[in-house]
Amino acid sequence: MTGLFGGTFDPFHLGHRALIRHAMTGLGLDRLLVMPVGRPPHKSRRTTLAAYRFEMVRLGTEDLEGVLVSDDEIRRPGLDYTYHTVLRLKEELALDQLVLLAGSDVLPQLGSWHRPEDLLTEVTLAVAVRGGEDRDEVAEHAARAEARYQSEIRLFDMPAIDLSASRIRETLESDGDISGMCPDRVIDFIRQYRPYQADGGFDAMKESDWQTLLDLEERAWPYLTQARRLHAASVAQYAARLAPLYGQDIGRAARAGLLHDLAKELPRDRQEELAARYFEQGGFGDPLALQSEDLIHGPASSVLATELTGSKDPGLERAVAWHSTAHPVMETLGEILFLADKIAYDRPFGRLEEIRHLAESGRLAAAMKRCLEEVFEALARQGKEPAEYSLQAYENYAGEE
Ligand SMILES: [Fe+2]
Ligand SMILES: [Fe+2]
Repeated sequence: MTGLFGGTFDPFHLGHRALIRHAMTGLGLDRLLVMPVGRPPHKSRRTTLAAYRFEMVRLGTEDLEGVLVSDDEIRRPGLDYTYHTVLRLKEELALDQLVLLAGSDVLPQLGSWHRPEDLLTEVTLAVAVRGGEDRDEVAEHAARAEARYQSEIRLFDMPAIDLSASRIRETLESDGDISGMCPDRVIDFIRQYRPYQADGGFDAMKESDWQTLLDLEERAWPYLTQARRLHAASVAQYAARLAPLYGQDIGRAARAGLLHDLAKELPRDRQEELAARYFEQGGFGDPLALQSEDLIHGPASSVLATELTGSKDPGLERAVAWHSTAHPVMETLGEILFLADKIAYDRPFGRLEEIRHLAESGRLAAAMKRCLEEVFEALARQGKEPAEYSLQAYENYAGEE
């Protein structure tokens, strides 16, 4: 029997993990799909980027046999209703039965779900009864719902775990310790990627810009591997953090970050085709500056980003096209993106702290200088020469201290 457990998982915590484990054994499931929602229909707060939430679920369940993390709802643009997800899954996996997991708190609110009668015809609802909860009372609620919706509802037991995602986020926002609240791997992830850090970036974004970013993330999802999605999210986050320090629009910087490597996983010939289109359309820069094969993903991503956003923004296109090398006449957005790509939190190197410190304290040119030097050293270690554009760009910053 297959189970489905959906949620925002923002973040994934030990209460989720306990529910999963007890559902597997208590209900005798052979497999369980854990599905982070893409865009929840009832949203009372902003959800964190899907790449982060998906990764936390992946890390928090990777050692559990029979548990699969599904991106089915994330990769579909628009609001996600459980009813539609269930119909799709049953068809795709040719399932007769599907067990939908939930906490006992859902029982009194079933009426507020989307098409509850239809949903409960399609699934068997399985409700967790937490230790310390009044089992008779839950059973009574369940019996009432069974009668009302003509559907079977099962109960399974799990220990009482006093954890909530909102409390964990609050703890993180006040720099508190979350050990014992999330799986260790999730804690390590949060420590590195800082998805809940309030830093004047994402948290200061206008609501409409945030919704646009979430929408773009869903549409960019199929183009990227999970590792690349995390990088994109991290660069978006860091670019958003730097933007207001330099008078730049936060939403635009975040979009540039999210889309900067959009073409990087495409086959080489497709990248070449897109990069050629960039120059045919009069895109800024010289095609001869693409000295190494790897550099074509910049202009290629730029063309694809314009396609995906559906609006032309020449400054953003230039920034994306030359994010790898920088170029001799950089605009501020280009500098922010170049830096964010190299020093965002997904890059764990300690020596980047100095460049971060410069960038975060208003010294953008000095940060560019140090960052280009760092790039030159990294290339030298691999026996490679810097790109001509990088050397020309460096001239502009060479006088910085
Ligand atoms: Fe790149
Ligand atoms: Fe990148």
